[in-house]
Amino acid sequence: MFSEDKKQIVVELYSPLLLSKGVKLLVQREYTNDVDCMGNKWWKLKYNLKKAIALKHDTIVTFGGAFSNHIVATASACHRLGLNSIGIIRGEEFSKQNPTLRKAASFGMNFKFIDRNQYRLKDSIDWSQDYENCYVVPEGGTNDLAVKGCAEMIQDVGFDIACVPVGTGGTLSGIINSLKSHQTAIGFSSLKGGEFLTETINEYVNSKNWSMNTDYHFGGYAKISEELITFMNDFKEEHSILLDPVYTAKMFYGIFDMLKKDLIMPNSTILAIHTGGTQGIEGMNERIKSKGWKIDF
Ligand SMILES: Cc1ncc(COP(=O)(O)O)c(C=O)c1O
Repeated sequence: MFSEDKKQIVVELYSPLLLSKGVKLLVQREYTNDVDCMGNKWWKLKYNLKKAIALKHDTIVTFGGAFSNHIVATASACHRLGLNSIGIIRGEEFSKQNPTLRKAASFGMNFKFIDRNQYRLKDSIDWSQDYENCYVVPEGGTNDLAVKGCAEMIQDVGFDIACVPVGTGGTLSGIINSLKSHQTAIGFSSLKGGEFLTETINEYVNSKNWSMNTDYHFGGYAKISEELITFMNDFKEEHSILLDPVYTAKMFYGIFDMLKKDLIMPNSTILAIHTGGTQGIEGMNERIKSKGWKIDF
């Protein structure tokens, strides 16, 4: 499943704003790399699952919330690689009914539901006591091997600034490690208070040619507003690209807002990575419908 040839199409977006600023905005359509182990997840799992198999582990244990992209991606990859998968889920057993966990279960993933207090301790627990011969992939998949995989993701189509959404910081770290000296990266935090991630990222990278933008979290992780949803609908209409509300919509909103405010150098070329996450739309739509907002995707 982790073949070496995995290059996705890069497309250019056109809009009056981009034209007026002389900025070229390229989108690396990384969400097309796999149906269920999509986008950055494919790259984050690549070396982790290769290592698990090389060390003859037969079970993967990993962690996430009830709507986690990482949980679905891991379940799907394990299914194809003949590995057992266990999802340690922060939340209640009834969340098994949501579209994300239903999909993960369809790939054979088994779940253990734990409360927030237990979840905080997850990294100090020896999971091999419960799951024999298991290989543990951390929450969001971020570790050294994930960073190594993400460093292979970017296609150098001649850009000045790479943009990527940030959750745990592994994807941005890999991208920073793959930049040339004249290139920079901007990470768009999907979490409120994402400033703390700078420390995590600095553990994985040596270079300083990057920054973290924390202005576009829309209230926090998985928080949305009508403005964001309208932006997603308009974006799909104008560019025929489906965004996800947790990560990529916030990044693209941020890019366009920074352009309006002249916070991005005129005449530069941006490469924005669409990291996937569209599996989460179904679950989010249930929330959006209950608010009575217009959904167009
Ligand atoms: C679609 C999508 N984009 C971006 C990210 C952020 O990646 P990272 O956690 O490596 O910062 C995630 C979460 O992993 C994600 O699911």
